[in-house]
Amino acid sequence: MASILVVDDELSMREFLSILLEKQGHHVFTAGDPQRALATADSHQLDLVITDIRMGSMSGLDLLKDLKDRYADLPVLLITAFASPEDAVSAMKNGAFDYITKPFKVDEIIAVVNAALQAPTAPATASRQQSPSHDIIGNSPEMLKIFDLINRIAPTHANVLIYGESGTGKELVAKAIHKSSKAAANAFVPITCNAIPETLFESELFGHVKGSFTGATANTVGLFGQANNGTAFLDEVGELTPLTQTKLLRVLQEREFKRVGDTQITKINVRIISATNRNLEEEVMHGNFREDLFYRLAVVPIRMPPLRERKGDVPLLIDFFLKKYAKIFDKEVRELSSYAMEVLMNYDYPGNVRELENIIERGVALATSNIILPESLTLSSHRKKAAGASTGEIPENLVAVRSEEELFDEGLEKIMARFEKKLLITALEKTNYSKMRAADLLKISFRSFRYKLQKYNL
Ligand SMILES: Nc1ncnc2c1ncn2[C@@H]1O[C@H](COP(=O)(O)OP(=O)(O)OP(=O)(O)O)[C@@H](O)[C@H]1O
Ligand SMILES: [Mg+2]
Repeated sequence: MASILVVDDELSMREFLSILLEKQGHHVFTAGDPQRALATADSHQLDLVITDIRMGSMSGLDLLKDLKDRYADLPVLLITAFASPEDAVSAMKNGAFDYITKPFKVDEIIAVVNAALQAPTAPATASRQQSPSHDIIGNSPEMLKIFDLINRIAPTHANVLIYGESGTGKELVAKAIHKSSKAAANAFVPITCNAIPETLFESELFGHVKGSFTGATANTVGLFGQANNGTAFLDEVGELTPLTQTKLLRVLQEREFKRVGDTQITKINVRIISATNRNLEEEVMHGNFREDLFYRLAVVPIRMPPLRERKGDVPLLIDFFLKKYAKIFDKEVRELSSYAMEVLMNYDYPGNVRELENIIERGVALATSNIILPESLTLSSHRKKAAGASTGEIPENLVAVRSEEELFDEGLEKIMARFEKKLLITALEKTNYSKMRAADLLKISFRSFRYKLQKYNL
């Protein structure tokens, strides 16, 4: 039995919820306005608050903020009209446990209430604007905003949709949210939506009973069963078919399912984090993705910015990957020459962070000294100015920095001269402008080094 406070300006709604919850064995308080709600919260040990978002002129969102300020651990459920998903989103961002859309089903309320009452209460450790995980690197304003968002929403039960181009770190962020959530000790189960054939969807996700179909040789709990009390990571969620979208929506609404071949109902409490490199809103507009499912999944949407929009993170990422691969390859590679750095700062990374990581990995592997020179960098030959859609993998055919066409235009002599000049400068910089050591670094004689300096007017 739990103590639940119901806040609504409509008497009929207060009565309806009181009767319903009392039937479940709970003790129910009611309040017709936020002031009275706060007074009740101050004078009673509450386990849960259910409040309408729109109460005449007063806002349930303000009440939510006040409650969270005073009782950070008290779960709050919001009631919202289906027509205003924006309210639900800001509610979740402000720490609501979940929201229920009007008109609602009795089963749905009971399921959400039970989930809220069972949720483990751990104090939220929200230190804002700090990377929530040591393996997510970045300090650009764009990434700091994302860190802040992750830290704020991780302790809530809100479903999160992460979208952005391939290689921007969507899965990394999903794991970080799980790791900083109250369910951190429980499972994080990745589910690649496009890898599951429609016909096997239910059995894969919800499990099956032995003998329920040919090939069902044992009982299984399914991926959702494994994720119970933890997080299910729905990767490539934009690839769900209309049928699987409907099946997923039902489970999310009712928080229960039947295993294939089972008569018993299985209750579940799973937080859903999904990822896509599609524009799901557009897919909704075109009728390819269910709007109701979209709002269920995208309670908190997180857009991962492409790396070319946050070049400030490039040096940090390079440093991080240099250390990582120097260790893996057991090499003493410590830095990039200044020209190599310049090349990487001027590149636009169609494959985002994954591509940068691959570049550094290969750079370290190919490096012959402890400095990576531009010649060890292999960048994608096609500098796609892509936006939105998945920009794919790095083509096998690689050349340094420019496309072949651009290189042919310039001609071999000029390219070599340009390259030589840059190398001379890099060598000088690396040796604190000692010509002798710079010559050594380039493995040429001092005389020929001096000659080259004159040739290029350096
Ligand atoms: N901010 C970051 N700091 C450190 N590593 C990162 C960062 N972002 C991405 N990475 C690395 O880049 C690689 C790709 O990241 P991830 O798999 O999370 O991308 P994704 O957005 O899920 O890509 P896809 O859409 O192709 O599945 C991983 O190796 C990941 O560790
Ligand atoms: Mg991914």
